[in-house]
Amino acid sequence: MARKLILDVDTGTDDAVAVMLAALHPALDLIGCTTVNGNIPVASCTDNTLRVLEHIGRGDIPVYEGLARPIVRSEFPISRKVNDRAGKYHPGALPVPPTTLAKQNASAVEFLIETYRAATDPIALVPVAPLSNIAACIALDPKFVSLVPELVIMGGAHALGNVTPSAEFNIWGDPEAAASVFAAGFEKITLVTLDCTHRALITAAHCHALHALGTPAGQAAADFIGHRIAVHDDDQKQEIEHSTPVHDALAVGFLINPALITTRRLHVAVETHGELTVGRTVIDTHFRGSEAPNCDVAFDADATGFAELLLRTFAGKA
Ligand code: RIB
Ligand code: CA
Repeated sequence: MARKLILDVDTGTDDAVAVMLAALHPALDLIGCTTVNGNIPVASCTDNTLRVLEHIGRGDIPVYEGLARPIVRSEFPISRKVNDRAGKYHPGALPVPPTTLAKQNASAVEFLIETYRAATDPIALVPVAPLSNIAACIALDPKFVSLVPELVIMGGAHALGNVTPSAEFNIWGDPEAAASVFAAGFEKITLVTLDCTHRALITAAHCHALHALGTPAGQAAADFIGHRIAVHDDDQKQEIEHSTPVHDALAVGFLINPALITTRRLHVAVETHGELTVGRTVIDTHFRGSEAPNCDVAFDADATGFAELLLRTFAGKA
């Protein structure tokens, strides 16, 4: 039976690839997408998510709109104070046709709480955006944490930062939300960090192969990833020339094939006060703290396996 999941997204270019991978791979059953303020304002994230789902023929998957800003900080409304660098990676409207679909009436938080209360099968929750929606669920429903069997988060970093020298965008985008998620006591958290996603680079050659598939998903993935490569070439060259991480899709890839990433069980907490370090995931790699490990932290990835998974899935041959 296909594994059920919900994707929490701020669609964005790499979120879009994650949505297509989750919607098209036969091993997964994407039962819904929730959107949140992040790369771009939440309404645009919702529109992009609907566009992508309709483009690949999965307009049946419902989309629920979530929080338009972080749960505490007013000065981090990313839609207004979007870090110019992050904004480059995520053009407003994605290059796929406008959607004829509409978001659901229920909010993302209502959908998440009600779905997990009613669930009879395990549903993995996969946030690949700031954790505002997840933190709101924790605050509103004391049982929510116990009802979620598995959380796969794209976010955080140990040796890297992308939005600041010390923080990764999703955690930085709502530090208090992230701090509450890691401290909440979820049964199983896998954290797909930048250290991991930057080990699974997708290249311009992969984009040519994706485009040559001739499928809507292959061509869209080539466009979305190609955009990222162009920005990385200008802004943050990778070890492999003309390449980019596709962060969010790797988090979905892990659900399909856990061997795609390598993890270590460690304690993770989030800095919410440091002037230079706000939004940093503090990963206790040498067990210096007093807290027990709360997370399987990914530091490495199988780049070849990841690229092959995208190509097979978007060719319709997974
Ligand atoms: O740091 C990478 C993360 O930030 C990805 O989820 C990307 O979509 C952006 O949200
Ligand atoms: Ca994202």
